[in-house]
Amino acid sequence: MDQNQKKEAVAKAALQFVKPDTIVGVGTGSTVNYFIDGLADMKNDIIGAVSSSNASTERLKKHGIQVFDLNEVDDLDVYIDGADEVTEHKHMIKGGGAALTQEKIVSAVARQFICIVDDSKRVPMLGKFPLPVEVIPMARSYVARELVKLGGDPVYRQGVTTDNGNVILDVHNLEILNPRELEAQINNLAGVVTNGLFAMRGANVVLCADDNGVNQYD
Ligand code: 5RP
Repeated sequence: MDQNQKKEAVAKAALQFVKPDTIVGVGTGSTVNYFIDGLADMKNDIIGAVSSSNASTERLKKHGIQVFDLNEVDDLDVYIDGADEVTEHKHMIKGGGAALTQEKIVSAVARQFICIVDDSKRVPMLGKFPLPVEVIPMARSYVARELVKLGGDPVYRQGVTTDNGNVILDVHNLEILNPRELEAQINNLAGVVTNGLFAMRGANVVLCADDNGVNQYD
């Protein structure tokens, strides 16, 4: 299987986690796009979705799936999303698609985070993928200097404005030995909206596609 076939296989496997008559939390990215396309076949069985980005909202609506504002929803059974890296502890780096903040908010509400990846995303330690940090524009240089003090090499993602009107710094060469601690430390910098470490709230289930099919890690 090539990478796209793996993404499709794992996205289709995630549909089993969607319960009838519920609102589904939906992530962002190319793997999730396959999930949204699959969800379209179940659209009459679910109430609708809460989305984590403008791109996912558009795709959901195109399929005729009702998209709810998170503020109208008390409870989400599952949140389904991809990742850029995931460890055996189900800690993740996310935000390659710049949607990390809304992803973190929607996933915080959900009872279960189902992470859907192909096998290229499973890593022994986080940090090879540059860590995205969403920053209020006026704080960009300050936050970059602080990230250097933490041992990283921040790079401004040119030409990208997030759905929240902010900018992204991608932090290279971080040694992420304690993801929960680093997640809190970076979030505490003035001007940081959030960072792409999902360790304090990791995944509950990781579905990972390899050449032999889809494996589930609980
Ligand atoms: C977007 C994300 C995505 O989940 C992550 O980048 C993985 O994307 P893809 O499925 O396209 O590889 O965090 O902000």
